[in-house]
Amino acid sequence: MDSALDWHSAKAMLEWQIEIGVDEAISDRPVDRFAHEQALREAARERAERQKPGAASPGAAPRAPRVEVDPVAVARAAATAATDLDALRAAMGAFEHCELKRGARNLVFCDGQPGARVMIVGEAPGRDEDRIGRPFVGKAGQLLDKMLAAIDLSREESVYITNVLPWRPPQNRDPRPEEIAMMKPFLERHIALADPALLVIVGNISAQTLLGKRGITRLRGTWTEALGRPALPILHPAYLLRQNEAKRDTWADLLSLKARLKTL
Ligand code: URA
Repeated sequence: MDSALDWHSAKAMLEWQIEIGVDEAISDRPVDRFAHEQALREAARERAERQKPGAASPGAAPRAPRVEVDPVAVARAAATAATDLDALRAAMGAFEHCELKRGARNLVFCDGQPGARVMIVGEAPGRDEDRIGRPFVGKAGQLLDKMLAAIDLSREESVYITNVLPWRPPQNRDPRPEEIAMMKPFLERHIALADPALLVIVGNISAQTLLGKRGITRLRGTWTEALGRPALPILHPAYLLRQNEAKRDTWADLLSLKARLKTL
């Protein structure tokens, strides 16, 4: 196999082969199928013997009990143990239970000003974010910067930004529920440590994660609460790049954010 193949491409090739019915690897030596069948029968017979009640397993080392790991519990323990943002970033970097990490180039943790009153929670890194290691640096991120600038906010001065997921899903697919569930304790801790006055929840995945609701076109623009903080769901800038006419609604939402900040 081409050694330059990345992990996700190799997995996709393997899955494709399984789908078209490939069920064996052709080796360069002949295979004695009769001996193979015989060996399988022997192995099955031995297994059946071993499973009979009271059967001893001669010479076998006692098997260690299999420990099932709960990734959500592991994440929660690691997140809780982090007492500042640097420790949280390190804890996320050390978390080995999310498959997305294996295909990602960088952990995308945050950008902007820790301690800012506004914390933006996006969905997941795309290709540019994965390459650079910072959230919202691609086309959608550039639009987000313009949206913020229109109400006198910026990541350089007044906004802190993160995502629900710190690793890019392959081909930008939607994150899976189990991926979100295992990374959510880190997000919750991230918000607690950054301690913003309010949250801006960007897009459907973020709304689903923090509000437990889907349907961002319905939810957008209505202030609510997430993790005990005021929260404003808004349309994702990637959506606005495709749906120009939705920018009008977002402009109203930005004005609502600006007005709310004046009351804090
Ligand atoms: N979309 C997001 O939700 N987050 C990013 O960081 C980039 C694109």
